[in-house]
Amino acid sequence: MPISVIKQIEALREKLRYHSYQYYVLDDPDIPDAEYDRLYKQLLAVEEKHPDLITTDSPTQRVGSKPLSAFEQIEHKMPMLSLDNVFNEEELQAFNQRIQDRLKINDEIGYTAEPKLDGLAISIRYENGELIYAATRGDGSTGENVTQNIRTMQSVPLRLLGNNYPQVLEVRGEVFMPKTGFDALNVKAKKNGDKEFANPRNAAAGSLRQLDPTVTATRPLSLYCYSIGVVEGGNVADTHYEILQQLKSFGLPVCTEIKKVNGVKACLAYFSDLSKRRDQLAYDIDGIVYKVNDISLQKRLGFVARAPRWAIAHKFPAQEELTTIIDVDFQVGRTGAITPVARLDPVFVGGVTVSNATLHNMDEVRRKDVRIGDQVIVRRAGDVIPEVVRVVPGSRKKPLAEIKMLTQCPVCQATVEQIEGEAVARCTGGLFCSAQRAEAIKHFASRKAMDIDGLGDKIVEQLVEENKIETAADLYQLSIEVLASLERMGEKSATNLIAALNKSKQPGLSRFIYALGIREVGEATAMNLANEFKTLADVQHAEFDDLIEVSDIGPIVAKHIVNFFQQQHNLDVIEQLLSAGIKIQPVKQKSFDEQSSSVFVGKTIVITGTLPSLSRGEAKEMLLEAGAKVTGSVSAKTDFLLAGDKAGSKLSKAEKLGVKVINEVEMLLHLK
Ligand code: IVH
Repeated sequence: MPISVIKQIEALREKLRYHSYQYYVLDDPDIPDAEYDRLYKQLLAVEEKHPDLITTDSPTQRVGSKPLSAFEQIEHKMPMLSLDNVFNEEELQAFNQRIQDRLKINDEIGYTAEPKLDGLAISIRYENGELIYAATRGDGSTGENVTQNIRTMQSVPLRLLGNNYPQVLEVRGEVFMPKTGFDALNVKAKKNGDKEFANPRNAAAGSLRQLDPTVTATRPLSLYCYSIGVVEGGNVADTHYEILQQLKSFGLPVCTEIKKVNGVKACLAYFSDLSKRRDQLAYDIDGIVYKVNDISLQKRLGFVARAPRWAIAHKFPAQEELTTIIDVDFQVGRTGAITPVARLDPVFVGGVTVSNATLHNMDEVRRKDVRIGDQVIVRRAGDVIPEVVRVVPGSRKKPLAEIKMLTQCPVCQATVEQIEGEAVARCTGGLFCSAQRAEAIKHFASRKAMDIDGLGDKIVEQLVEENKIETAADLYQLSIEVLASLERMGEKSATNLIAALNKSKQPGLSRFIYALGIREVGEATAMNLANEFKTLADVQHAEFDDLIEVSDIGPIVAKHIVNFFQQQHNLDVIEQLLSAGIKIQPVKQKSFDEQSSSVFVGKTIVITGTLPSLSRGEAKEMLLEAGAKVTGSVSAKTDFLLAGDKAGSKLSKAEKLGVKVINEVEMLLHLK
């Protein structure tokens, strides 16, 4: 065998391993996919000519050909543990206290905080850098040999990188299915008439339990390593955090969100930060795991039953729960849209008690076949409005009546119309409908519109119901006496509300336009209109052809805007608002220097890292205010990356893609 062929094969394998590492572990590919494919095909071709040189750790040998008849059992030489849970701050404090007491340490304990990934645990054994087997957790002592399937996962190295790894290294981690992969898999399943998976966790479990590895190979599975098992013939670091860094340097994927934190307060700050960002993560998590960072302290703490004393899972409140539909009502929105709303047997979900959940529209009601009396799954994720996800299969014990859309508005009795091809039904009562009026006023007062502090939904509803106001303009005629006479209001809150109303009298043009509640005109569109036309009068008189020239405005929105300003009623309300003392602040005529301050309008921006003075949430709000779109991941469509300290993979990706990177100071300068 010519040495040159052996060398060529090894060089190709090295390259492919390196690029997989860049892609899957560092999330920082440095060659296009097509180039990877080219190298891969080249290796295949050489191996085909020299089959005797094929080794099991070659990147071409991921998918074995033979389906198994059953999985073998594998005994874990070091048991795979589970974690105890806490659900609140108090329980976390108690966990920390137990550790301090046991260790007789008064100083803050150093922990790592990590996402608790919602997948299934795996143990992968490497010997001399080569993947030998992979086993599921099973009962913790014995699991199933799923090596064939784990080998098909591109993020799992078949051979470790470098040569610093211990001779025997068992790594433990979570196999999971990223959300986008899960969605795509279900779309495919639906198209093929196959059964859809209920959630990414089930999809990951189902995919890993396939006896035929060619099926697993088509499933978008990922791995993050979070600890080690047996280690022989080599040393690992003496803190958990550094061990994870070592695993990373061996080419193993480790979650990028893992942080070192000191003491309970920092644990809670991490928990709160990740709770907020949970929906933006690429994968499902169901809590945070805190682990004592110092391995010698871990050893002193030891285990109870099947769980370590040095780690704990801080679980998020469940986002889905079972309950029963007691009734279905219909709610009328600002634009007359009628939404079916399920009244529920109250249930604690997503951290609050929920007794109403949206059913969206009648298409959804039919698709989910929801009926009064059904047992259903309710979901409340983050601050999103709770929704009925689906009826619990097989729970309907007797026939139940179908839900029908009303023919008349439940509030004003006007006819309900359903436009062909539109999912929503609408009340035709317009501003004669008090529900529509109340909703329009709530929108007008909301934080991103006129920001009238203290004017809550219930107050608006009372004011409209008792005919104390008809339009948003009437708000500015309210007296302390009238307000103080409302339920749940006293003299003091009435005075405060009047002050808040006065304070709201100097809105920027874009806020004012947004507050008017023109259909489909959100914050960004309002901002674009303000920047384009500069004065309310010019927006009001803009013609269809002018409007569609504005960024983000298409024919439908343009038509809504024209229609809005054609209605005498709307013009009257605007007139009354202005004569009530509302002074729209002029859109700054920008000097040449300042022209850049509009750079963010309509632009897509990603925020990453720790900013020096603002939280990411605050920066996001300011950018949205300036008309930008803020998204979670960097792509070719990103216009700017706002990067703070420890920016990581998003920064390198932005640099690679040539996305302009700015810091907080630059952002603030552009906003001023
Ligand atoms: S550590 C000795 N870290 O949670 C520690 N587990 O409830 C054992 N899990 O079986 C586990 N993310 O499947 C650890 N960052 C993380 C985790 C994690 C998810 C799962 C794992 C384990 C289960 C325990």
